[in-house]
Amino acid sequence: MQMISSERDPIYKKLAAQFESLLEEKADCISNLANATALLRGHLGFFWIGFYLVKEGVLQLGPFQGPVACTRIERNRGVCGASWATKKSIVVKDIRDFPGHIACSEHSKSEIVVPLLDEKGEVWAVLDIDSDKMSDFSELDRKHLEYLVKIIERKSQNI
Ligand code: SME
Repeated sequence: MQMISSERDPIYKKLAAQFESLLEEKADCISNLANATALLRGHLGFFWIGFYLVKEGVLQLGPFQGPVACTRIERNRGVCGASWATKKSIVVKDIRDFPGHIACSEHSKSEIVVPLLDEKGEVWAVLDIDSDKMSDFSELDRKHLEYLVKIIERKSQNI
């Protein structure tokens, strides 16, 4: 089950409602991140969806769905490390064009990374989604995923 970017519009709207109802402000943030990956993967079907958490000065692998992935990513390394350093979402249409891209899977062709910020504006995690299709992410995905990440941020005050 994989669709083109414009077909995902109604799915993202459904996901926003599910994030609101399923993620709990009182839950451990790992529980919320784990459920977020299940919802995203269940509805969008990308081959890898997961979170890296900032811990002890590096990004460490958190809840994810998909094949095994690298466990630690340094600041400014790869797409995830660049998103952490710049505090910005990054859409990579062709991973071969991104200098320093970390290939956790040979299937990865395009990628989007969205940072999660705390109340002080510091990055505490990044959401990483990998596709096995070239140019699979658009501005529409960025806009919707940033909205979903805002819900996660709001429901994860206890980090
Ligand atoms: N490709 C990422 C590394 C994480 S894996 O794709 C799951 C990057 O360059 O940061």
